[in-house]
Amino acid sequence: MTLKSVHSPILQVEDLCTTFGSGIATIPAVRDVSFSVNKGEILGLVGESGSGKSVTLRSLLGLSRRYGETTGSVYWKGDNLVVRSEADMRRIRGGEIAMIFQEPMTSLNPLLTVGMQIDETLKAHTAMNASERKARAVEMLDLVGIPAARSRLGEYPHQFSGGMRQRVMIAIALAARPQLLLADEPTTALDVTIQAQILDLILSLAKDFDMGVVLVTHDLGVVAQTCDQVAVMYAGRIVEQGAVRQVLRAPQHPYTVGLMRSVPENVPPRTPLYSIPGTPPSLLSLPEGCAFSARCPQKTVLCEQSRPHLTNETGERAVACFSRVETQGDAVA
Ligand SMILES: Nc1ncnc2c1ncn2[C@@H]1O[C@H](COP(=O)(O)OP(=O)(O)O)[C@@H](O)[C@H]1O
Ligand code: SF4
Ligand SMILES: [Mg+2]
Repeated sequence: MTLKSVHSPILQVEDLCTTFGSGIATIPAVRDVSFSVNKGEILGLVGESGSGKSVTLRSLLGLSRRYGETTGSVYWKGDNLVVRSEADMRRIRGGEIAMIFQEPMTSLNPLLTVGMQIDETLKAHTAMNASERKARAVEMLDLVGIPAARSRLGEYPHQFSGGMRQRVMIAIALAARPQLLLADEPTTALDVTIQAQILDLILSLAKDFDMGVVLVTHDLGVVAQTCDQVAVMYAGRIVEQGAVRQVLRAPQHPYTVGLMRSVPENVPPRTPLYSIPGTPPSLLSLPEGCAFSARCPQKTVLCEQSRPHLTNETGERAVACFSRVETQGDAVA
């Protein structure tokens, strides 16, 4: 029995689309994205830069509406957030659903102490009194591994190192005990050791608080280490989706195969690292057929004429490709 059939999802996303611009400058940044997240489960969203990962996360919280149009459904506790008002979304953001943005250094307020920033979140999203909020702030800094937590509450963001500031961001995001965390490349700017510590932290907090997580990353190594499910994005669409174990062991979409071959751990030492030839297509002029066709070693005439839909033939794995790759279990990963 799979995880999915045991728990009902807390987040269910169906046919999410976000479009920026209009007329000939229409940018279909996210197209028909569907996935679900269970309590305590971590879903990895991977793909090259520009594939629509950040826009997907921002669209879940209604943050893309300011610049473009979002359609589809984002079911959260039975409600479709896509049609909820901005006032409703402000209550949900940072409370039930928290987000760690891609640029944490710029998301912290340089003029407020770390303690004040945690306090603001708790005031906005909980009914705690001042002493309970102070205790929670100390507890959160402690939880994310900041030594001498109590004395550091009165310090400003610039007094923390890069890794510690990232931990502060996580402490603020998790202070109000969200049921879902949206984390956009939370470790990209950090060195490898700190990256591993932060990922371990997110992993253990997800399990301890039974919190669902959508983790955006361009690093398949991070997905392998951290996630239960994975969705691979290309040019705004999910092209392969399933349990991490299965997708990384035997990827079926040629793009996922290429990504796996680009991971240093997957090739013998002193072997040149593979990189997928070419670059993703411009979203302003997508090809008529498969968006990956210009880079795909398996391409046929059909691929240039029509676009493959994401199909789920086995019930466990969805792939958008006319000719799925049949890899052996030990070929990669
Ligand atoms: N506010 C915006 N206006 C217009 N285009 C945008 C906007 N935000 C993102 N995009 C475009 O949407 C596409 C997906 O971006 P993004 O989700 O940030 O990619 P990534 O997978 O690297 O996170 C990119 O082509 C980007 O230029
Ligand atoms: S549909 Fe065709 S071009 Fe697209 S990934 Fe599959 S084989 Fe390659
Ligand atoms: Mg991004």
